[in-house]
Amino acid sequence: AVQAVMKKAIAIAPDAWMPGGKPDPLIARQQGLIGAPVSRVDGPLKVRGEARFAAEFPMEGMVYAALVFSTVPKGRIAMLDTGAAEAVPGVVLVMTYQNAPRMKPMPLFMSSSKAAGGDDLPIMQDDRVHWNGQPIAVVLGETQEAADQAAALVRVTYEAEESTTSFAAARAKGTKPGVFMGEPLKLEIGNAEAALAAAPHRVDAVYHTPRHSHNAIELHAATLAWKGDELTIHDASQAVSHMAWSMAQVFGLDEKQVHVTSPFVGGGFGSKTLWGHHVLAAAASKLAGRPVRIMLSREGVYRVVGGRTLTEQRVALGAQADGRFDALIHTGVVAMTAHNNLPEPFILPARSAYAAGTFKLDVEVATLDMLANTFMRAPGESVGTFALESAIDELAHLMKMDPIELRIRNEPGKDPTTGAPFSSRHIVEAYRAGAERFGWNLRNAEPGARREGEWLVGMGCATATYPYYRMPGGAARITLTRDGHAKVEVAAHEMGMGTATAQTQVAAERLGLPMEKVRFCHGDSRFPGVVLAGGSQQTAAIGAAVMAAQQALFAALLKLVGKESPLHGLKADDVVGRDGGLGKLDDAARFESYTAILARAGQDELAVEASAPAPLETQRWSMHSHGAMFCEVRVNEVTGETRVSRFLGSFDCGRILNAKTAASQFRGGIVMGLGLALMEETQFDERNGRIMNPSLAEYHVPVHMDVPEIDVIWTDIPDPHSPMGARGVGEIGITGVGAAVANAVFNACGKRVRALPITLDKLM
Ligand code: MOS
Repeated sequence: AVQAVMKKAIAIAPDAWMPGGKPDPLIARQQGLIGAPVSRVDGPLKVRGEARFAAEFPMEGMVYAALVFSTVPKGRIAMLDTGAAEAVPGVVLVMTYQNAPRMKPMPLFMSSSKAAGGDDLPIMQDDRVHWNGQPIAVVLGETQEAADQAAALVRVTYEAEESTTSFAAARAKGTKPGVFMGEPLKLEIGNAEAALAAAPHRVDAVYHTPRHSHNAIELHAATLAWKGDELTIHDASQAVSHMAWSMAQVFGLDEKQVHVTSPFVGGGFGSKTLWGHHVLAAAASKLAGRPVRIMLSREGVYRVVGGRTLTEQRVALGAQADGRFDALIHTGVVAMTAHNNLPEPFILPARSAYAAGTFKLDVEVATLDMLANTFMRAPGESVGTFALESAIDELAHLMKMDPIELRIRNEPGKDPTTGAPFSSRHIVEAYRAGAERFGWNLRNAEPGARREGEWLVGMGCATATYPYYRMPGGAARITLTRDGHAKVEVAAHEMGMGTATAQTQVAAERLGLPMEKVRFCHGDSRFPGVVLAGGSQQTAAIGAAVMAAQQALFAALLKLVGKESPLHGLKADDVVGRDGGLGKLDDAARFESYTAILARAGQDELAVEASAPAPLETQRWSMHSHGAMFCEVRVNEVTGETRVSRFLGSFDCGRILNAKTAASQFRGGIVMGLGLALMEETQFDERNGRIMNPSLAEYHVPVHMDVPEIDVIWTDIPDPHSPMGARGVGEIGITGVGAAVANAVFNACGKRVRALPITLDKLM
């Protein structure tokens, strides 16, 4: 059975990260920049308010957009009266299905390599309503206030049709198999139900997680303009190249006719892809002949931009007396629409986290009439680890075994469902280091045993895990100038996570230039590469592309040098960047500065572009970031209030490129995990599919008072099979946190909460 699911193994030299590859020249580093806690290169710009975000680009003659949202989940528009709206002073256009230009649907995210659309429904092409909150009119005004006022005056009535907006009703109609990135999520190895029934120790429980809505600090926004058939969009995007191509499909253009910039993004988390507001703003701009700025209101984000589905998950574990798993069952149901592409793949962690004699994994999909759900902060893993890691804690308690010890007893030597070797896995070290630092030995295994006044104190842990991905399409351009500066251009994204800083460090180290002489340019679809800032893969994707460009640059420079150069006769593999030039490793005499090489060749600059090699490493190795989460909570016996008092994340994510920005990413993920554990919940009215809490006043996220000092540590063991030795650090921080909190709550007060969020009513 393992053979049956094993991916095609590709022959790759075991000591190289890519086929026929060379050792990463980072090993020849000399400046000590790799891993250094360098402060953000974009920090000063942001602090001074000089970093320009999507809704801050000025445009001549620009107008402002406001949207009107439907109030029924399904049906058709019966009557539409825009007269009062059009009469508002300063209103430039009211666009509805009656006057919108003809457009194709958005290409659905993951349906092809550059598709970025959250759904593939027609946008304002007819009188149909597909979800409660769907935009049914766009108003353009000379001011935002005029547009907003007019939007409130659009009169509309609907002929509602029968719709499916309750999860139970959707399930009763029948579910379909979940498919993620073209692959089924169903996996069976052996007869897990039989093994479970025969196991001497078992847990079998159902866990629930609610819907979540996206709440990036920066609202979704775009400032855009047409010049003939050329469209420029200043967007808030985590996929500029995908965006340019996808918008071109919608409007029947060549992708080169769409230029997307996104120099800074105030958080994406999976949501800053292509949604209806982009298409509507561009269509209205075309119709009005004016540049348009659209910035969704906070409510608008809840209505237009998809979030995370709810899940119902069963986890059943059967174990022998020594704790080893005979059966690992993780199955369940999620909600989707007929027009989106993300069945929350909550079984992904269970594929590789533990050894087990048998497996049964499955995600089924129930279809609802609602806003399309989408990627959100470790889709799959964040809620999947809640169920899986809670169940392991339940089993450990049942067996009177330390939960860390139970996990270590089931530590797999190779990927348990594919049979592939792990590229690098040091989760046991992460657990041991974390346990020591956190003081795990102070935990009393008996729930409710530790008390401070009316506060019950407990500790819990859970495994964090997120796959290593590297998507194809990476490319980079390096331009070296005679004054000894380098510019590295990649169509990548800075969403606040420190990309520009870490990549400047790496490029400077590779080229042997000080950081001040290297500029990492990103956020522009005209730069090389198709690089998604998602799946925690951007760092590896950029890294592989920059490595390729560096090799090409060194080769091009060596072609320029003449007989009189000390570098004459050397090949790209023989040299490294150092001291502002090229030099032979271990041979101080054979060196020439970039300035000298270009001057002698009579060139002002040298630009090279190269593509990253295909991501074959993921086919040869099972690659994942790992972590161990430790949580201490205090549960108030009188009020049920839960306070997280201490938290530690102990990570094993390969080489850490920047200790400061990586620590911030880990912490940020953990803060989101605390929200997932304790407060986040989209209130979805199952009678009519309306999201009832579309604001940060009623959709609760952690604030400073909710977050203790978060400690993070890491192994810093380079992964020999990823470019730069680094795996992703973006999403792993949120994984495992829900279970760590739930397990700590159980240890504190003896209440096992299997439905997130753990609000105080569930503890009374
Ligand atoms: Mo992330 S949810 O892959 O942007």
